[in-house]
Amino acid sequence: MSRYKKSLEIYATQVNDALRETLYQTFSRRSQEELNPEIKLLSAVMGYSLLDAGKRIRGALVLEFGRLSGASRTGAMALACAVEMIHAYSLIHDDLPCMDDDDFRRGKLSCHKAFGEANALLAGDALLTLAFETAAESGLPPERVAAAISALAKAAGAVGMVGGQMMDLNDSGKSSTKERLEDLYRRKTGAMLRVSAALGCIAGGASPQLLQMADEYTQAYGLAFQISDDILDVTGNQQTLGKPVGSDEKNHKTTYVTLLGLEGAAKECERLVEKAKNSIEPVPDHDFLWWLADMILRRDH
Ligand code: IPE
Ligand code: IPE
Ligand code: MG
Ligand code: MG
Ligand code: MG
Repeated sequence: MSRYKKSLEIYATQVNDALRETLYQTFSRRSQEELNPEIKLLSAVMGYSLLDAGKRIRGALVLEFGRLSGASRTGAMALACAVEMIHAYSLIHDDLPCMDDDDFRRGKLSCHKAFGEANALLAGDALLTLAFETAAESGLPPERVAAAISALAKAAGAVGMVGGQMMDLNDSGKSSTKERLEDLYRRKTGAMLRVSAALGCIAGGASPQLLQMADEYTQAYGLAFQISDDILDVTGNQQTLGKPVGSDEKNHKTTYVTLLGLEGAAKECERLVEKAKNSIEPVPDHDFLWWLADMILRRDH
């Protein structure tokens, strides 16, 4: 195994441990009175979709940019957890029948298939809220906490991920253009990846130069990542992917594959990966981030 793959695995394990501990602290500290059967169920539903799966790329971006900017480990880890909680919530909602209507996620039944739609909806809401509680209690200096929460809210919210999801649903079954699709992808997928790097920088009080390079890197990375997701939706295998293939076709989505063809989409993806790598070339210690960008072109899940 390459040392960078190992680094990603270590980041993922650390994020998983921290997420489990955060959920445990959230629920175990409460009195029995507060922990009635419904709240116990909610904690189980949240844990089902949050823990032990997922590549943890967003968490790894927070931790890597935190490392590059000298952030405290616990502070950066809290922000990594916050990002992964919002990501997990976005996936729960994305799979609902009123959205992409997909039955599998991360190698098991999607949340609403396992627990019902209302429980899935509420677990998503609770994860979104817990993300902000976790960021607020990160122990970082107050001005960094405020900056992190503000950035996270903007990225996750109406002009970021949620807005992108709204455009995505609205465009289903309609023709689109590359410009429109790029705008949509920058929001639905790019915004959360972009803010992940920004949060690592905020946690460590990075220089404006590093912040700028992190931003350029993740802007290109985010678009490339969603294009590779589009490609895998056509060429992938459900077993390896852990989620259904053909979801986009089923939902009549316009994607980079439908617009440019498989080969055109792959070319665009390669161009963006190169762009991402070039943006952080001046960072002395960029090897892991280069590998992470190259991985987009090789990934099978
Ligand atoms: C899936 O993201 C949703 C998209 C933005 C394409 P990931 O591919 O990072 O999903 P997990 O977290 O590894 O399951
Ligand atoms: C979803 O994009 C992006 C989110 C904000 C969750 P997709 O709908 O293509 O993601 P998958 O393929 O279901 O993971
Ligand atoms: Mg979707
Ligand atoms: Mg989907
Ligand atoms: Mg997809």
